[in-house]
Amino acid sequence: MQEILEQLEERRVQARLGGGQRRIDAQHAKGKLTARERIEVLLDEGSFEEYDMYKTHRCVDFGMDKVEVPGDGVVTGWGTINGRPVYVFSQDFTVLGGSLSETHAEKICKVMDLAVQNGAPIIGLNDSGGARIQEGVASLGGYAEVFYRNVQASGVVPQISVIMGPCAGGAVYSPAMTDFIYMVKDSSYMFVTGPDVVKTVTNEIVTAEELGGASTHTKKSSVADGAFENDLEALLEIRRLFDFLPLSFKEKPPVLPTADDPERVEMSLDTIVPENPNKPYDMREVITKIADEGEFFEVQEAHAGNILCGYIRLNGSTVGVVANQPMVLAGCLDIDSSRKAGRFVRFCDSFNIPLLTLVDVPGFLPGVGQEYSGIIKHGAKLLFAYAEATVPKVTVITRKAYGGAYVVMSSQHIRADVNYAWPTAQIAVMGAKGATEILHRSELDDVEKTAQRTKEYEDRFANPFIAAQRGFIDDVIMPHSTRRRVLRAFEALKTKNQRLPEKRHSNIPL
Ligand code: HXC
Repeated sequence: MQEILEQLEERRVQARLGGGQRRIDAQHAKGKLTARERIEVLLDEGSFEEYDMYKTHRCVDFGMDKVEVPGDGVVTGWGTINGRPVYVFSQDFTVLGGSLSETHAEKICKVMDLAVQNGAPIIGLNDSGGARIQEGVASLGGYAEVFYRNVQASGVVPQISVIMGPCAGGAVYSPAMTDFIYMVKDSSYMFVTGPDVVKTVTNEIVTAEELGGASTHTKKSSVADGAFENDLEALLEIRRLFDFLPLSFKEKPPVLPTADDPERVEMSLDTIVPENPNKPYDMREVITKIADEGEFFEVQEAHAGNILCGYIRLNGSTVGVVANQPMVLAGCLDIDSSRKAGRFVRFCDSFNIPLLTLVDVPGFLPGVGQEYSGIIKHGAKLLFAYAEATVPKVTVITRKAYGGAYVVMSSQHIRADVNYAWPTAQIAVMGAKGATEILHRSELDDVEKTAQRTKEYEDRFANPFIAAQRGFIDDVIMPHSTRRRVLRAFEALKTKNQRLPEKRHSNIPL
């Protein structure tokens, strides 16, 4: 018996070595952790249960019959993050470059199936040279099986991808269909076709980093939701994100203990909105002052800065925040911000995360570029997402709420549950200056009269009371009491139960 146990241990040691010490050293030399080290950081200590450690590929072409690596380049199983279960796969670059074979894909599919069956999120740590070249279509079929499961799992359990090395070609479409993509700066990249193909086809000369590095995907393309300095930081931040999320669509997010008083007032909010309506202020400050312990987990921070999206907790419960940011493009809505916030709203609605919307929006960004690129269709995404969302929705208008953007930003008209305004709110079709220029065009030469007309419009509309008189605003609140008022609104909405009309599925403008 002792001998059998020793043999088992020997097999385990062998499997844990992956592609061997030389390749592990090479991985470390690049500043990267190995597949197993990453899992150790991601999961609670000692919680990982590995499956299919001895599974090997079945390929016999191109000398592969002589290459046998237990585990076949991916480490799979489940464990816990702060005590809650999660399924994980971690591609092992030391084994044939983490390339995906038919069996490698089968291992990933197994944990995806278990995640859906058991109602727990799935986290993929991607570090792979793509399809196992020696296997041809068997490998492509493997990818397709993963893609299919990504779609089936969408909206059932949260899916998180962390790109920690190469992720190229069609392989990118698995992370692309998950709920979050995070990258590691300088050591990860994603592209459909690499720099060499780009050069051949379009004559453009570009490095892998420029084409598909973390900076490109967090700032320009918005493919990634965020990027971290190194593997360690990335994995620890994913643990933080995980704590905001429910295990599946059937559950609510966890409630974390907090020492922050639900009644806390924040007097500085009374003076945060400048007297001059054209002067910006930092909406991020408003969010952190409302949140438990000032914690705000922002997503897509580097993209479309005119809208802020992320998670806070109120009395321990997760709330998704969408907020116009007056410091960037005056907080107006444009294509990028509508897409960013629209997707965020849909994720929150999929997973029972209530939505807090903070509004200071002068309207949609004008411009030929915006129109040609389809602001009509993209702006509609956010409107559609809000109108379709059935989770509790609370809105606070801090200053401007103009025109169509007022309606879009979770107004009562599209079924927000509670709509508050600060006394500094201005709810109107447009700003006073623009309104005067249209209504009194013939008098524009008369500077004095125009100023008077502008003032008249301001006096009438630069306040929240016209909307409040109509019942479109439930109450005008003291800015310093925003945390308490919003928190109580969400408490009252905890039992909200709204159903959409029966249908196969809606048709959001894509
Ligand atoms: C088999 C692969 C491999 C692959 C890498 N390796 N990619 N083996 N299939 N796709 C092996 C290498 O032969 C090498 O083996 C080891 O992994 C490490 O690779 P290196 O090239 O030494 O590492 P590095 O210099 O860091 O370069 C990494 C790389 C490069 C940029 C990823 O390996 C590369 O370009 N690989 C091919 C990428 C590719 O074209 N993949 C197919 C994409 S199309 P040894 O034994 O020497 O250590 C695709 C389609 C998916 O994926 C479609 C889904 C529908």
